[in-house]
Amino acid sequence: MIPLREEAHKLIQEAEKLNPGTWVKHSYNTALAAEKIASYSKRYHSEKAYICGLLHDIGRREGVYDLHHTIYGYNYLCELGYEEVGKVCLTHSFVHQNISDFIGKFDCTEEEIQFIKNFIENTTYDQYDKLIQVCDYLALPTGFCKIEKRMVDVALRKGVTDYTVPKWKKVFDLKDEIEKEIKQSIYEILDV
Ligand SMILES: [Fe+2]
Repeated sequence: MIPLREEAHKLIQEAEKLNPGTWVKHSYNTALAAEKIASYSKRYHSEKAYICGLLHDIGRREGVYDLHHTIYGYNYLCELGYEEVGKVCLTHSFVHQNISDFIGKFDCTEEEIQFIKNFIENTTYDQYDKLIQVCDYLALPTGFCKIEKRMVDVALRKGVTDYTVPKWKKVFDLKDEIEKEIKQSIYEILDV
């Protein structure tokens, strides 16, 4: 079960009131990028792509947190009965299905870290997980951008680790994979 667009908009508006920030515009742009790209292949439902993009960072409703926003978003959407979209809250930050992929503070309890590890290592990433991993890098709060621009934006704010370059390579590989599927250039679709 996934929320309707109207319901998803309500969730993001409520979250914005609790924790206003540029993450909200980034979420709208992630949703729009996902919807546009998804419309080029029957493998996706554009509506589901939009909702997953819009709610991937919904865990930020809790406040300004790093790793914690992933598990908080997952738990929050699961409680509402939207586990399928909640999955994306967790998977979008870990392209290699490895917790070390995360760039930022590990502001979680040991129990939460174990849960995240167990979840991402044992789940199968589907087309929506992968689509949002890429769209997350195509969406600045101000609009769509080339992936490299968002990578530098994140690196300047959060820093880099030994895992950063392999992560970036994986995101480019995922972009290639999606472009093969949709037979279009993502940058052309988004006009960046
Ligand atoms: Fe994001």
